[in-house]
Amino acid sequence: MLGSVLLAVSRSPLARRAVSGFPVTRLVVDRFVAGEDGGAALAAVQRLTDARLSVTLDHLGEETRDVRAAADTVKAYVSLLDALRPLGLGSRAEVSVKLSAVGQMLDQAMALDHAREICSAARDAGTTVTLDMEDHTTVDSTLSILRELREDFPATGVAVQAYLFRSEGDLRDLAREGSRVRLVKGAYAEPASVAHQKKAEVDKAYVRCLRILMEGKGYPMVATHDDRLISITELLADRAGRDRDSFEYQMLYGIRTDKQEALARAGSTVRVYIPYGDDWYGYFMRRLAERPANVAFFLRSLRSK
Ligand code: FDA
Repeated sequence: MLGSVLLAVSRSPLARRAVSGFPVTRLVVDRFVAGEDGGAALAAVQRLTDARLSVTLDHLGEETRDVRAAADTVKAYVSLLDALRPLGLGSRAEVSVKLSAVGQMLDQAMALDHAREICSAARDAGTTVTLDMEDHTTVDSTLSILRELREDFPATGVAVQAYLFRSEGDLRDLAREGSRVRLVKGAYAEPASVAHQKKAEVDKAYVRCLRILMEGKGYPMVATHDDRLISITELLADRAGRDRDSFEYQMLYGIRTDKQEALARAGSTVRVYIPYGDDWYGYFMRRLAERPANVAFFLRSLRSK
């Protein structure tokens, strides 16, 4: 209930102004966001890769309705990738892109061109791009842009949301040789006509999706902090005869860092999703919606100021 209210609020411009206006919000946001600029993002990359983790960087922003803002996002990604190149981390440091931040809501062709520019800069830096998945109205467009991108940049990855009824079908198409697919539960408020609503149903759907990926020929990127799903991943990978380097785990910056390190120590590839930038509102609200304890933490810090 609280989660769905927060997800609704995450799209309200009024609430955005109110929440962003509290100076203390920044302190809480810092738990989930690496910083406001590329320099802060690179510092987080250095810290996490020194700890044997891999990373994917997200320049925060979404639902852009302004051509210049979309072009600025592309510039930010290109300069970040240029800065990553001399670090020589290769695919240990890749980027995640929300197509709505590079113009998907304005014009699909523009979003494709912009995504191509980012993919090209990523290739020059010896790394890859993964497309985030946004609300269900964008899935067809995102998968169609993915298909086009993969003609020139076959390693481009995509996120698929287990809560959507359609995802098992999408995954059967995607689980091909070389196909990098990030499986997530799904973070948006979706209607009952398109998505499972109960946590138990979402978890069961996640396992069905995971099975398709593990039995397929692609490269599964298992993005969850859920211990039960991590144990099931180990089991399904064993059953499918997969080596440890034929799939990876992914988790969000600032969430379950102990588990991230433990999995990496045990020999798994663990990639941390690092958001950075000043447009943190939507991302932050989705993180609050996932866990009531985060809301309590936020409210406590407001009271203590
Ligand atoms: P679940 O929410 O059940 O959490 C399991 C446990 O993890 C909790 O009990 C708690 O311990 C911990 N936890 C989870 N969320 C937490 C939080 N916010 N704060 C503190 N602890 C928390 N979604 C989407 O729709 N499109 C996308 O492209 C992506 N991309 C993406 C990339 C990566 C790398 C990750 C890890 C996740 C995403 N997501 C996403 C978000 C995803 O859909 C989902 O909302 C979150 O991962 C939370 O789901 P869990 O699988 O962790 O399970």
